[in-house]
Amino acid sequence: MLRSFISGFATTVRLLLTAFILISSALLPAVAAQPETDIHRLADIFQPQSRPAELILEPTYLVLLICFGIFAVVVAVLVYVLIKFRPRGPQDHLEEPPQVYGSYNIEMAWTVIPCLIVFVLVLVSSRSIVEIQDQPMPEDAIKVRLIGHQWWWEVQYPDLGIITANEIHVPVSSKNGPPRPTHLILESADVIHSFWVPQLAGKTDLVPNRVNHTWVEPYKTGVFLGNCAEYCGTQHANMLLRVIVQTPEDFEKWVANQKQLPTEPQDALAIQGKKDFYALSCVNCHKIDASPAEGVFGPDLTKFAVRQTLGAGVALNTPENLHDWLLNPDSLKPGCYMPDMKLSPQQLSSIVAYLQTLK
Ligand code: CUA
Repeated sequence: MLRSFISGFATTVRLLLTAFILISSALLPAVAAQPETDIHRLADIFQPQSRPAELILEPTYLVLLICFGIFAVVVAVLVYVLIKFRPRGPQDHLEEPPQVYGSYNIEMAWTVIPCLIVFVLVLVSSRSIVEIQDQPMPEDAIKVRLIGHQWWWEVQYPDLGIITANEIHVPVSSKNGPPRPTHLILESADVIHSFWVPQLAGKTDLVPNRVNHTWVEPYKTGVFLGNCAEYCGTQHANMLLRVIVQTPEDFEKWVANQKQLPTEPQDALAIQGKKDFYALSCVNCHKIDASPAEGVFGPDLTKFAVRQTLGAGVALNTPENLHDWLLNPDSLKPGCYMPDMKLSPQQLSSIVAYLQTLK
């Protein structure tokens, strides 16, 4: 009985929220019309595409249901009082309403009811948290070590020997077939960050000197956007992350490509760019496999041109954006730790040409 009431109410709340989202999208065509490649597309928490996100959605409906109930009661009482006790003449303001002190019943009601509500919410949320955290990972689960940096994500595949940044490639799983989860091992190189890809999994913090775990098990291929969900400094808002869910075949192709060395530049401009890059201090912060560039402070650039975005999702990885980024990183990401290298126009175009060959 209670269960069917809750599920009925959840459906109503869901419909209301969907209507709200649809109306807001209609009012904000710029948001609704964003293409798949857009960097700031909103992730819809009501469309989970992975088991952990589904487990979170269930208590979310309950919380919304309870909050909606409280809201309705408060508004109803408020409207009732406003109408019932509205001033009915100039003399009305002179009389003081009855003063109520020390009402045992009222005090018990406003203490016990909220305690019960909180108790129910704690129990329901704990169940989801435990179910997500205690999920055993199969032996063959893809392992990804995700390290938070100010303000980008280092992505390592320890079993596959791959290091990349800001984009996690994972194979798609299936609700019917054997599960194919990806186990995320979360660490931080500096301050506290938080992993959050709303459609795939809830928030889990990346804490310095501590290892946290979470997992995703997407049922659908595509690009899922996430972001850092813990304030971590100036560019916290631009610490964006994308999870690229691929068919097993496409994932294998990506893995095979990542394991190879980048292609050698062919045209004169890119060859010059390679020389310029190695002559500058870029190599102190960035790594390119089998080259003198061995820095680890910034993202690994070995397969930079394969990535969809640059600056941790702040812009699409196009030659124009790369040019602007190298000319003045602060223009796209004020306060970021990538310095302005004061490149000459010639160095700019040659290095842009070279970096585009890294695929
Ligand atoms: Cu990293 Cu906020």
